Amino acid sequence: MTVRPDDPAPNATALNDAAPAWNDPAPNDPAPNPHATEAQVEAARKDTKLAQVLYHDWEAETYDDKWSISYDQRCIDYARGRFDGAVGPAPLPYGRALELGCGTGFFLLNLMQGGIAKSGSVTDLSPGMVKVALRNAQHLGLDVDGRVADAETIPYEDNTFDLVVGHAVLHHIPDVELSLKECLRVLKPGGRFVFAGEPTTVGNFYARWLGRITWKATTTVTKLPTLAGWRRPQQELDESSRAAALEAVVDLHTFDPSELEALSRSAGAVEVKATTEEFAAALWGWPVRTFEAAVPEEKLGMRYRLTMYRAWLRLSWLDENILRRIVPRQFFYNAMITGVKPGATTE
Ligand SMILES: C[S@@+](CC[C@H](N)C(=O)[O-])C[C@H]1O[C@@H](n2cnc3c(N)ncnc32)[C@H](O)[C@@H]1O
Repeated sequence: MTVRPDDPAPNATALNDAAPAWNDPAPNDPAPNPHATEAQVEAARKDTKLAQVLYHDWEAETYDDKWSISYDQRCIDYARGRFDGAVGPAPLPYGRALELGCGTGFFLLNLMQGGIAKSGSVTDLSPGMVKVALRNAQHLGLDVDGRVADAETIPYEDNTFDLVVGHAVLHHIPDVELSLKECLRVLKPGGRFVFAGEPTTVGNFYARWLGRITWKATTTVTKLPTLAGWRRPQQELDESSRAAALEAVVDLHTFDPSELEALSRSAGAVEVKATTEEFAAALWGWPVRTFEAAVPEEKLGMRYRLTMYRAWLRLSWLDENILRRIVPRQFFYNAMITGVKPGATTE
Protein backbone atom coordinates (compact mmCIF):
# COMPACT_ATOMS: atom_id res chain seq x y z
CA MET A 1 0.00 0.00 0.00
CA THR A 2 1.22 3.50 -0.70
CA VAL A 3 0.22 7.11 -0.16
CA ARG A 4 -0.99 9.19 -3.07
CA PRO A 5 -2.79 12.52 -3.24
CA ASP A 6 -6.13 10.90 -2.69
CA ASP A 7 -8.76 13.19 -4.07
CA PRO A 8 -10.04 13.43 -7.59
CA ALA A 9 -9.42 16.79 -9.21
CA PRO A 10 -12.62 18.38 -10.49
CA ASN A 11 -11.60 17.64 -14.08
CA ALA A 12 -10.26 14.12 -13.43
CA THR A 13 -10.35 12.01 -16.61
CA ALA A 14 -12.43 8.87 -16.18
CA LEU A 15 -10.51 6.48 -18.40
CA ASN A 16 -12.37 3.36 -17.41
CA ASP A 17 -15.76 4.53 -18.62
CA ALA A 18 -15.50 3.80 -22.30
CA ALA A 19 -13.70 0.77 -23.63
CA PRO A 20 -12.85 0.94 -27.31
CA ALA A 21 -10.26 -1.42 -28.77
CA TRP A 22 -6.79 -1.32 -27.19
CA ASN A 23 -3.50 -3.11 -27.68
CA ASP A 24 -3.61 -6.46 -25.98
CA PRO A 25 -0.54 -7.69 -24.07
CA ALA A 26 1.94 -9.73 -26.12
CA PRO A 27 0.19 -12.75 -27.73
CA ASN A 28 1.93 -15.40 -25.62
CA ASP A 29 1.27 -13.63 -22.31
CA PRO A 30 -1.23 -15.18 -19.86
CA ALA A 31 -4.80 -13.81 -19.84
CA PRO A 32 -6.32 -11.96 -16.85
CA ASN A 33 -8.18 -14.06 -14.30
CA PRO A 34 -10.46 -11.70 -12.34
CA HIS A 35 -12.46 -14.54 -10.71
CA ALA A 36 -10.11 -16.75 -8.69
CA THR A 37 -11.41 -20.07 -7.38
CA GLU A 38 -11.42 -20.84 -3.67
CA ALA A 39 -8.61 -23.38 -4.21
CA GLN A 40 -6.47 -20.72 -5.93
CA VAL A 41 -7.07 -18.24 -3.11
CA GLU A 42 -6.07 -20.91 -0.57
CA ALA A 43 -2.88 -21.72 -2.53
CA ALA A 44 -2.11 -17.98 -2.74
CA ARG A 45 -1.84 -17.75 1.04
CA LYS A 46 1.49 -19.57 0.76
CA ASP A 47 2.59 -18.22 -2.62
CA THR A 48 3.23 -14.49 -2.69
CA LYS A 49 3.49 -14.26 -6.50
CA LEU A 50 0.23 -16.14 -7.04
CA ALA A 51 -1.34 -13.83 -4.45
CA GLN A 52 -0.07 -10.81 -6.41
CA VAL A 53 -1.63 -12.07 -9.63
CA LEU A 54 -4.99 -13.03 -8.09
CA TYR A 55 -5.28 -9.88 -6.00
CA HIS A 56 -4.29 -7.48 -8.78
CA ASP A 57 -6.21 -9.27 -11.55
CA TRP A 58 -9.24 -9.05 -9.29
CA GLU A 59 -8.90 -5.32 -8.66
CA ALA A 60 -7.41 -4.18 -12.01
CA GLU A 61 -10.62 -2.79 -13.50
CA THR A 62 -11.52 -0.79 -10.37
CA TYR A 63 -7.98 0.13 -9.27
CA ASP A 64 -7.89 3.66 -10.70
CA ASP A 65 -11.16 4.57 -9.00
CA LYS A 66 -10.14 2.97 -5.71
CA TRP A 67 -6.89 4.94 -5.53
CA SER A 68 -8.20 8.12 -7.19
CA ILE A 69 -5.70 7.63 -10.00
CA SER A 70 -6.16 9.93 -12.95
CA TYR A 71 -4.11 10.98 -15.94
CA ASP A 72 -4.68 14.70 -15.64
CA GLN A 73 -2.49 17.50 -14.27
CA ARG A 74 -2.98 16.43 -10.63
CA CYS A 75 -1.36 13.02 -11.11
CA ILE A 76 1.10 14.24 -13.77
CA ASP A 77 2.39 16.75 -11.19
CA TYR A 78 2.48 14.07 -8.50
CA ALA A 79 4.44 11.57 -10.65
CA ARG A 80 6.77 14.26 -11.97
CA GLY A 81 7.29 15.58 -8.43
CA ARG A 82 8.40 12.13 -7.25
CA PHE A 83 10.78 11.79 -10.20
CA ASP A 84 12.30 15.23 -9.75
CA GLY A 85 12.57 14.68 -5.99
CA ALA A 86 14.54 11.47 -6.56
CA VAL A 87 16.72 12.54 -9.48
CA GLY A 88 17.03 16.33 -9.34
CA PRO A 89 17.71 18.33 -12.49
CA ALA A 90 18.36 16.04 -15.49
CA PRO A 91 18.41 16.46 -19.28
CA LEU A 92 14.99 15.35 -20.58
CA PRO A 93 13.31 13.50 -22.13
CA TYR A 94 14.72 10.00 -21.87
CA GLY A 95 14.22 7.85 -24.96
CA ARG A 96 12.66 4.47 -24.09
CA ALA A 97 11.45 3.76 -20.55
CA LEU A 98 10.37 0.54 -18.85
CA GLU A 99 8.00 0.32 -15.89
CA LEU A 100 8.04 -2.65 -13.51
CA GLY A 101 4.87 -3.47 -11.56
CA CYS A 102 3.05 -0.86 -13.63
CA GLY A 103 -0.42 -1.54 -12.23
CA THR A 104 -2.75 0.55 -14.39
CA GLY A 105 0.17 2.66 -15.60
CA PHE A 106 -0.12 5.44 -13.01
CA PHE A 107 3.60 6.24 -12.83
CA LEU A 108 5.00 5.79 -16.34
CA LEU A 109 1.98 7.13 -18.24
CA ASN A 110 1.91 10.26 -16.11
CA LEU A 111 5.70 10.63 -16.34
CA MET A 112 5.47 10.38 -20.12
CA GLN A 113 2.76 13.02 -20.15
CA GLY A 114 5.03 15.12 -17.91
CA GLY A 115 7.83 15.00 -20.49
CA ILE A 116 10.11 12.42 -18.84
CA ALA A 117 10.24 9.82 -21.65
CA LYS A 118 9.24 9.55 -25.30
CA SER A 119 8.18 5.90 -25.45
CA GLY A 120 7.57 3.19 -22.90
CA SER A 121 6.99 -0.45 -22.03
CA VAL A 122 4.68 -1.33 -19.16
CA THR A 123 5.11 -4.65 -17.34
CA ASP A 124 3.41 -6.32 -14.40
CA LEU A 125 3.01 -9.80 -12.94
CA SER A 126 -0.76 -9.35 -13.23
CA PRO A 127 -2.15 -9.75 -16.79
CA GLY A 128 -5.23 -7.75 -15.76
CA MET A 129 -3.07 -4.77 -14.80
CA VAL A 130 -1.08 -4.86 -18.06
CA LYS A 131 -4.33 -4.91 -20.00
CA VAL A 132 -5.69 -1.84 -18.18
CA ALA A 133 -2.33 -0.01 -18.42
CA LEU A 134 -2.24 -0.56 -22.20
CA ARG A 135 -5.83 0.57 -22.50
CA ASN A 136 -5.05 3.74 -20.52
CA ALA A 137 -1.97 4.39 -22.71
CA GLN A 138 -4.08 4.02 -25.82
CA HIS A 139 -6.69 6.48 -24.51
CA LEU A 140 -3.89 8.96 -23.87
CA GLY A 141 -2.34 8.42 -27.30
CA LEU A 142 1.03 7.42 -25.82
CA ASP A 143 3.65 5.27 -27.56
CA VAL A 144 3.56 2.30 -25.15
CA ASP A 145 3.75 -1.48 -25.44
CA GLY A 146 3.39 -4.01 -22.65
CA ARG A 147 4.27 -7.45 -21.34
CA VAL A 148 3.21 -9.64 -18.44
CA ALA A 149 6.52 -9.92 -16.60
CA ASP A 150 8.12 -10.76 -13.29
CA ALA A 151 10.46 -8.00 -12.12
CA GLU A 152 12.95 -10.69 -11.06
CA THR A 153 13.27 -11.99 -14.65
CA ILE A 154 12.62 -9.08 -17.01
CA PRO A 155 11.83 -10.40 -20.52
CA TYR A 156 13.84 -7.82 -22.46
CA GLU A 157 17.30 -7.88 -24.00
CA ASP A 158 20.36 -6.41 -22.29
CA ASN A 159 20.96 -2.66 -22.87
CA THR A 160 17.43 -1.92 -24.13
CA PHE A 161 16.16 1.00 -22.02
CA ASP A 162 17.30 4.52 -21.12
CA LEU A 163 15.17 4.59 -17.97
CA VAL A 164 13.51 2.01 -15.68
CA VAL A 165 10.85 3.19 -13.25
CA GLY A 166 8.52 1.69 -10.66
CA HIS A 167 6.05 2.97 -8.07
CA ALA A 168 5.06 0.99 -4.98
CA VAL A 169 6.49 -2.21 -6.40
CA LEU A 170 9.87 -3.01 -4.79
CA HIS A 171 8.29 -3.92 -1.45
CA HIS A 172 6.32 -6.68 -3.21
CA ILE A 173 9.32 -8.36 -4.85
CA PRO A 174 10.84 -11.28 -2.94
CA ASP A 175 14.46 -10.69 -4.09
CA VAL A 176 14.85 -6.92 -4.45
CA GLU A 177 18.58 -7.08 -5.23
CA LEU A 178 17.97 -9.58 -8.04
CA SER A 179 15.36 -7.26 -9.49
CA LEU A 180 17.73 -4.27 -9.32
CA LYS A 181 20.39 -6.38 -11.10
CA GLU A 182 17.81 -7.12 -13.79
CA CYS A 183 17.09 -3.37 -14.10
CA LEU A 184 20.77 -2.69 -14.63
CA ARG A 185 20.99 -5.52 -17.19
CA VAL A 186 18.18 -4.11 -19.38
CA LEU A 187 19.37 -0.49 -18.96
CA LYS A 188 21.80 0.94 -21.47
CA PRO A 189 25.12 2.05 -19.94
CA GLY A 190 24.48 5.41 -18.28
CA GLY A 191 20.75 4.61 -18.00
CA ARG A 192 18.93 5.35 -14.77
CA PHE A 193 16.41 3.58 -12.54
CA VAL A 194 13.94 5.42 -10.30
CA PHE A 195 11.66 3.68 -7.79
CA ALA A 196 9.24 5.72 -5.69
CA GLY A 197 6.41 5.05 -3.25
CA GLU A 198 8.24 2.49 -1.09
CA PRO A 199 7.28 2.34 2.61
CA THR A 200 10.02 3.07 5.11
CA THR A 201 10.24 0.75 8.12
CA VAL A 202 9.45 3.48 10.65
CA GLY A 203 6.75 5.02 8.44
CA ASN A 204 5.07 1.67 7.90
CA PHE A 205 5.00 1.10 11.66
CA TYR A 206 3.13 4.30 12.49
CA ALA A 207 0.94 4.09 9.36
CA ARG A 208 -0.29 0.60 10.29
CA TRP A 209 -1.04 1.59 13.88
CA LEU A 210 -2.82 4.79 12.91
CA GLY A 211 -4.80 2.83 10.32
CA ARG A 212 -5.80 0.11 12.79
CA ILE A 213 -6.85 2.56 15.50
CA THR A 214 -8.87 4.69 13.06
CA TRP A 215 -10.58 1.62 11.54
CA LYS A 216 -11.52 0.27 14.97
CA ALA A 217 -12.76 3.67 16.21
CA THR A 218 -14.80 4.41 13.08
CA THR A 219 -16.41 0.97 12.77
CA THR A 220 -17.23 1.00 16.53
CA VAL A 221 -18.67 4.51 16.71
CA THR A 222 -20.82 3.97 13.60
CA LYS A 223 -22.58 1.10 15.41
CA LEU A 224 -24.43 3.77 17.41
CA PRO A 225 -28.02 4.01 16.09
CA THR A 226 -27.69 7.78 15.58
CA LEU A 227 -24.69 7.23 13.28
CA ALA A 228 -26.12 4.24 11.40
CA GLY A 229 -26.13 6.23 8.13
CA TRP A 230 -22.32 6.46 8.40
CA ARG A 231 -21.87 2.68 8.64
CA ARG A 232 -20.95 0.73 5.52
CA PRO A 233 -22.80 -2.57 5.00
CA GLN A 234 -21.20 -5.36 7.07
CA GLN A 235 -20.46 -7.36 3.92
CA GLU A 236 -18.33 -4.52 2.53
CA LEU A 237 -16.50 -4.07 5.85
CA ASP A 238 -15.75 -7.82 5.94
CA GLU A 239 -14.44 -7.64 2.38
CA SER A 240 -12.10 -4.78 3.32
CA SER A 241 -10.82 -6.78 6.28
CA ARG A 242 -10.17 -9.81 4.02
CA ALA A 243 -8.30 -7.59 1.54
CA ALA A 244 -6.22 -6.24 4.43
CA ALA A 245 -5.36 -9.83 5.43
CA LEU A 246 -4.14 -10.55 1.88
CA GLU A 247 -1.91 -7.48 2.11
CA ALA A 248 0.15 -9.36 4.67
CA VAL A 249 0.91 -11.96 1.97
CA VAL A 250 1.82 -9.45 -0.75
CA ASP A 251 3.59 -6.72 1.28
CA LEU A 252 7.00 -8.32 1.80
CA HIS A 253 9.35 -5.51 2.77
CA THR A 254 9.73 -2.14 4.34
CA PHE A 255 12.98 -0.23 3.85
CA ASP A 256 15.45 1.88 5.68
CA PRO A 257 16.73 4.44 3.11
CA SER A 258 20.34 3.41 3.77
CA GLU A 259 19.41 -0.22 3.15
CA LEU A 260 17.92 0.71 -0.25
CA GLU A 261 21.17 2.48 -1.12
CA ALA A 262 23.24 -0.53 -0.05
CA LEU A 263 21.06 -2.93 -2.10
CA SER A 264 21.42 -0.73 -5.18
CA ARG A 265 25.19 -0.50 -4.86
CA SER A 266 25.45 -4.21 -4.26
CA ALA A 267 23.41 -4.79 -7.47
CA GLY A 268 26.06 -2.78 -9.35
CA ALA A 269 24.55 0.73 -9.56
CA VAL A 270 26.49 3.98 -9.22
CA GLU A 271 25.30 7.51 -8.38
CA VAL A 272 22.90 5.90 -5.91
CA LYS A 273 20.68 8.13 -3.80
CA ALA A 274 17.70 7.43 -1.55
CA THR A 275 15.29 10.25 -0.68
CA THR A 276 12.30 10.22 1.65
CA GLU A 277 9.19 12.38 1.91
CA GLU A 278 5.90 12.75 3.82
CA PHE A 279 6.07 12.85 7.59
CA ALA A 280 3.33 15.24 8.81
CA ALA A 281 1.42 14.46 5.60
CA ALA A 282 1.56 10.72 6.37
CA LEU A 283 0.73 11.07 10.09
CA TRP A 284 -2.37 12.98 9.06
CA GLY A 285 -3.09 11.14 5.82
CA TRP A 286 -3.30 7.58 7.11
CA PRO A 287 -6.13 8.19 9.59
CA VAL A 288 -7.96 10.27 6.96
CA ARG A 289 -7.67 7.59 4.28
CA THR A 290 -8.69 4.85 6.70
CA PHE A 291 -11.70 6.86 7.85
CA GLU A 292 -12.71 7.38 4.22
CA ALA A 293 -12.47 3.64 3.56
CA ALA A 294 -14.62 2.86 6.61
CA VAL A 295 -17.63 5.09 5.80
CA PRO A 296 -20.01 5.13 2.80
CA GLU A 297 -18.46 7.00 -0.11
CA GLU A 298 -21.55 9.16 -0.70
CA LYS A 299 -21.12 10.73 2.76
CA LEU A 300 -17.94 12.46 1.59
CA GLY A 301 -18.69 15.16 -0.95
CA MET A 302 -16.41 17.00 -3.34
CA ARG A 303 -15.98 19.88 -0.88
CA TYR A 304 -14.71 17.46 1.79
CA ARG A 305 -12.31 15.90 -0.72
CA LEU A 306 -10.94 19.24 -1.88
CA THR A 307 -10.45 20.33 1.74
CA MET A 308 -8.53 17.13 2.50
CA TYR A 309 -6.43 17.50 -0.65
CA ARG A 310 -5.52 21.08 0.23
CA ALA A 311 -4.62 20.03 3.78
CA TRP A 312 -2.39 17.29 2.33
CA LEU A 313 -0.67 19.85 0.10
CA ARG A 314 -0.07 22.19 3.05
CA LEU A 315 1.37 19.41 5.21
CA SER A 316 3.57 18.27 2.34
CA TRP A 317 4.87 21.84 2.12
CA LEU A 318 5.60 21.76 5.87
CA ASP A 319 7.45 18.43 5.41
CA GLU A 320 9.56 19.70 2.52
CA ASN A 321 10.39 23.15 3.85
CA ILE A 322 10.70 22.70 7.60
CA LEU A 323 10.47 19.14 8.94
CA ARG A 324 12.99 17.80 6.42
CA ARG A 325 15.67 19.84 8.25
CA ILE A 326 14.77 18.54 11.71
CA VAL A 327 13.40 15.00 11.39
CA PRO A 328 15.74 12.09 10.43
CA ARG A 329 15.03 10.82 6.90
CA GLN A 330 14.02 7.33 8.01
CA PHE A 331 10.99 8.79 9.88
CA PHE A 332 9.36 9.94 6.66
CA TYR A 333 6.87 7.47 5.16
CA ASN A 334 7.76 7.31 1.45
CA ALA A 335 11.16 6.26 0.16
CA MET A 336 12.53 6.74 -3.34
CA ILE A 337 15.71 5.28 -4.76
CA THR A 338 17.65 6.08 -7.91
CA GLY A 339 20.87 4.79 -9.42
CA VAL A 340 22.73 4.62 -12.72
CA LYS A 341 24.22 1.79 -14.74
CA PRO A 342 27.97 2.37 -15.00
CA GLY A 343 29.19 3.42 -18.43
CA ALA A 344 28.51 6.09 -21.05
CA THR A 345 25.66 8.46 -20.25
CA THR A 346 22.37 8.28 -22.17
CA GLU A 347 21.05 11.52 -20.63
C1 LIG B 1 0.83 -1.59 -5.16
S1 LIG B 1 0.66 -2.02 -6.83
C2 LIG B 1 1.33 -0.54 -7.60
C3 LIG B 1 0.87 -0.39 -9.02
C4 LIG B 1 1.35 0.89 -9.70
N1 LIG B 1 2.77 0.92 -9.85
C5 LIG B 1 0.85 2.11 -8.95
O1 LIG B 1 1.66 2.78 -8.29
O2 LIG B 1 -0.34 2.38 -9.00
C6 LIG B 1 1.98 -3.18 -7.06
C7 LIG B 1 2.00 -3.78 -8.44
O3 LIG B 1 3.19 -4.58 -8.54
C8 LIG B 1 2.87 -5.78 -9.21
N2 LIG B 1 3.87 -6.78 -8.82
C9 LIG B 1 4.00 -7.39 -7.63
N3 LIG B 1 5.04 -8.24 -7.63
C10 LIG B 1 5.60 -8.14 -8.86
C11 LIG B 1 6.70 -8.78 -9.49
N4 LIG B 1 7.45 -9.69 -8.85
N5 LIG B 1 6.97 -8.45 -10.76
C12 LIG B 1 6.23 -7.54 -11.43
N6 LIG B 1 5.16 -6.92 -10.89
C13 LIG B 1 4.85 -7.22 -9.62
C14 LIG B 1 1.45 -6.09 -8.77
O4 LIG B 1 0.80 -6.99 -9.63
C15 LIG B 1 0.83 -4.69 -8.73
O5 LIG B 1 0.25 -4.35 -9.96
